[in-house]
Amino acid sequence: MSKNPVYEKLMGCYDSIKEKIPFTPKVALILGSGLGDYADGYSAEGMIDYHEIQGFPVSTVPGHKGRFIFTHIEGTPVVMMQGRVHYYEGYSISDVVLPVRLMRLMGAEILFLTNAAGGVNFDFAAGDFMLIRDQISSFVPSPLIGPNMDQLGPRFADMSHIYDEDLQQIIRDSAAAMNLSLKEGVYLQLTGPAYESPAEVRMCRILGADAVGMSTACEAVAANHMGYKICGISCISNLACGMTDQPLSHKEVQETADRVAPLFKELVTRSIAKMGKSLNGK
Ligand code: HPA
Repeated sequence: MSKNPVYEKLMGCYDSIKEKIPFTPKVALILGSGLGDYADGYSAEGMIDYHEIQGFPVSTVPGHKGRFIFTHIEGTPVVMMQGRVHYYEGYSISDVVLPVRLMRLMGAEILFLTNAAGGVNFDFAAGDFMLIRDQISSFVPSPLIGPNMDQLGPRFADMSHIYDEDLQQIIRDSAAAMNLSLKEGVYLQLTGPAYESPAEVRMCRILGADAVGMSTACEAVAANHMGYKICGISCISNLACGMTDQPLSHKEVQETADRVAPLFKELVTRSIAKMGKSLNGK
């Protein structure tokens, strides 16, 4: 049988780091904009720089670091990705999802996705948080295209419940305990890197999206294929183009994400604490 280069690369990466994995993580947490320094609040029990991993995609976006950090959050073993790569950076979609697959090989059972996104729903405001209930990934190539890697999952993966109901409820309960009003909705991924035109934002709304961004959905497809339980939260860093009079800038996105970062961190921490307990059967 001919070898699948995507699978070979994944296993090569895994083999090259497996000695450095300090424990089996339960939760794989991807830190999006605004959560970039989340890991600083925890003492790392292990760290793997992406540069150390042969052929590993390394982010080119300013302000995005690139490393796996292993730590316990309220007793739950977690591997965090400080810095993700985006399709618009020029990587193949299989490279974009490689880190997610790698964390599953490390043993993670839950994938916790976070991002900054543009609000498409007129009921949203900059600084809101949106629990991701479902997604539209049809505008980016599927990471499952190519020979199926039967070792990872089935050829025709079921996507009827990408975002796990129990994990969604944990996040709702965590927000309620903080008195935080949590929006909910559908995340739509476009390639970027340009922000959308007003007509594209209208298109997203007509298609049923509540938030639009340039990451996450392809990662969730690959993760669902591998059998992860998945949850996700978008920080609505801005209303999407055309919904206000203001032009959109990366600076504005970053500033809003930074402003609400303390709340975002608390929501993630509380949620992970509960996830650890529910996984332990307590
Ligand atoms: N559009 C796409 N991606 C984004 C946005 C947006 O308005 N804000 C943050 N990420």
